[in-house]
Amino acid sequence: MPAADRGQATGPPTISEVAAEAGVGRATAARTLGGYGYVSPELRERVLAAAEKLGYRANALARSMSTGVSHTLGVIVADIGNPFFAGVMRGISDTSRARGFDTIVLSTYEDLSQEIAATNVLIDKRVDGVIIASAAVRRSEVAHIRAAMDRGIPVVLVDRAVASLDLDSVVIDNRDAARAAVEMLISAGHRRIGFIWGPPAAEAPATRRELLAEASRNLWTDGERLRGYLDALDDARIPFDPQLVMVGRKTEGRATQEVARMLALPDRITAVFCTETEAVTGALRALRAAGLSYPRDVALIGFDDSAWAAVMEPPLTMIEQPVHQLGAKAAEVLLDILDGAEPRREMHTLHSRLIVRSSVAAPALP
Ligand code: RIB
Repeated sequence: MPAADRGQATGPPTISEVAAEAGVGRATAARTLGGYGYVSPELRERVLAAAEKLGYRANALARSMSTGVSHTLGVIVADIGNPFFAGVMRGISDTSRARGFDTIVLSTYEDLSQEIAATNVLIDKRVDGVIIASAAVRRSEVAHIRAAMDRGIPVVLVDRAVASLDLDSVVIDNRDAARAAVEMLISAGHRRIGFIWGPPAAEAPATRRELLAEASRNLWTDGERLRGYLDALDDARIPFDPQLVMVGRKTEGRATQEVARMLALPDRITAVFCTETEAVTGALRALRAAGLSYPRDVALIGFDDSAWAAVMEPPLTMIEQPVHQLGAKAAEVLLDILDGAEPRREMHTLHSRLIVRSSVAAPALP
């Protein structure tokens, strides 16, 4: 039977077109053509007839006729060498293995072009589903994720949400965690609190509005942590000083430079809040270079607790993310979709913990 006229549509017919033709939901068409989950015989027949009519004959249909599944999940993270992502991956792997699935993990170093290439690798390897900590932030940057979904591959976001993607995401309470940490510094008497690191803006925004606008164009986690910092300042009626927020490339070296700059201000910082591991190590290098120590000269709290933070002398007060639980929940959500559950398209928020140790003290008297 010749393929039906598809109007202006170009390229191979998509799952969404097949679903529309069959008069079923996209998820039903995806399960039928992807060969996973439950579909009633009547709906299956309608979907297959529509797929035949539209000429949806590529791998997806062939795949659904055979076993249809590879029992493999694809995982895309920024850096599997980072303890945070390593912990998330352990949670994904443990949960997937317990339900009969293998995992393939790819690092992309927050580089969108590498993320696109990694997504295509996973599509080619016919993974059944994808979990991704995406570097995409703009609507124009998510075509690769939509391409996977159009091939019947469900996607779940982990660690960060992406505003233009209506997908299930598994994240933590970033904003509340940052606010609680900065509130602890304020309660200890600090008012000049550095924020390392903010959005990778080309130049330092002069106002809070510009800073937040820049943050909204970058990773969701960074923006949420910045908002938590600002919340705590607002609650304590501490005026926001743009000089105390690092912007620019997010590297340990830049963190060191920026903390050194803030320490050299006439009204220098007496505390610093760091939003990632390399922000913490960068700040510690700046303190050492300035001959200063924590918490005596500068109080410090960081994100992403780890074994080394606990054995530092003095031990660091840090925010602990439930990394294994993040990965396990993301895998559970995805595997439930593969088992036939409708995607709930909601944000699943897990709670972090502030691990209070010994890196916060009152400001040294002038
Ligand atoms: O590089 C790891 C950090 O960035 C973690 O804080 C994680 O939340 C990610 O966003």
